[in-house]
Amino acid sequence: MEENLLHIKNDVVSLVMDAESLTELNQIYIEFLGRSGILTKELKKLKSVPEEKRPEVGKLANEIKNTIETVISDKKKSLKINKHAERVEKLDITKPGIKPAKGSLHLVTQAIKEISQVFESIGFTRVRYPEVEWDWYAFEALNFPEDHPARDDWETFFIDEKPSEKYGPMILTPHTSSGQVREMINVAKSTHKGQSPSIRMLNLAKCYRRQSDVSHTEMFHQFEGLVVDENITIGHLKGVLEYFVKSFFGSERTSRIRPYQFQFTEPSFEVDISCGICKGKGCKLCKEGWLELGGAGMVHPNVLKAGGIDPEKYTGFAFGWGVERVLMMKEGMNLPDLRLIYSNRIEFLKQF
Ligand code: FA5
Repeated sequence: MEENLLHIKNDVVSLVMDAESLTELNQIYIEFLGRSGILTKELKKLKSVPEEKRPEVGKLANEIKNTIETVISDKKKSLKINKHAERVEKLDITKPGIKPAKGSLHLVTQAIKEISQVFESIGFTRVRYPEVEWDWYAFEALNFPEDHPARDDWETFFIDEKPSEKYGPMILTPHTSSGQVREMINVAKSTHKGQSPSIRMLNLAKCYRRQSDVSHTEMFHQFEGLVVDENITIGHLKGVLEYFVKSFFGSERTSRIRPYQFQFTEPSFEVDISCGICKGKGCKLCKEGWLELGGAGMVHPNVLKAGGIDPEKYTGFAFGWGVERVLMMKEGMNLPDLRLIYSNRIEFLKQF
């Protein structure tokens, strides 16, 4: 039996030395030390060894079992270390890295930058006024009658706050026109006596209305131009509109104004641009060659008065358009639903 045990030990040691994987080592373990393994079976024979020899043979059998276990476990450790080393060796730091996905500005942010640049290049200054506003600045000071539909909660978001005695209910800014009177008051404060209250304002901001359908979102952006000075005429308004249309949409486009009605401008206009598809001839996309851009007009004397400016001496014009809408017109985007812009769908946004 001693001889058998020594043979087994030698076999195992040489097999373990040649083993190249953990799987192989596990197989060797099962083959020799498993329940019906070669060594296990040999150990069972211990019972039949004469009693006087049993302690000596038993001791040898134990030593061989321990040796085999140690040899297998040492080899396992060394294989694991080599595997790690192999992995480290495979890391080639000279290889070009994996490029992280490149982000870009949201298409509305891009449009805001572009629109601001066009107006800043002709002397307008971008201003910021509160997103949470008083009814007085958004409606009352702009000549809206008390029962105007825009003032009720079908269109306007009201803040759950005690109304101010002076300014009425607190609301979310429904249009950038609420910045008109704020600007007039600000400029009047900083103008010395005898100086003209000269205004060239661009108020580009978030607006909120209770409207959600294919062409309306509850949050959208408007940009509002306001110019006040001595001798400001419709001619100035028309010149600024034309400059914007050509700079933003392209030199081949042109604009026109049509009579309209707004509470805070008199006369009021709707501004159209020539259709970029049919070049003004008339097609499926437009109305006889023209696309609606937004509202404009000469500032109503009551609004100038509310802003502390003398309407006998000064005149002004204003316009207010939707950023999302002009963006769609520029890109020639035939968006089936304006709400897509704010859906955060990467596949859609990645295109811009
Ligand atoms: C106004 O808001 C006026 N304050 C514009 C104005 C300013 C007229 C100065 C005269 C002088 P209106 O409600 O039509 O007008 O909105 C202007 C533009 O904002 C629309 O033409 C449209 O482009 C955009 N707009 C309005 N509501 C939404 C909405 N819910 N979602 C997306 N865009 C909108």
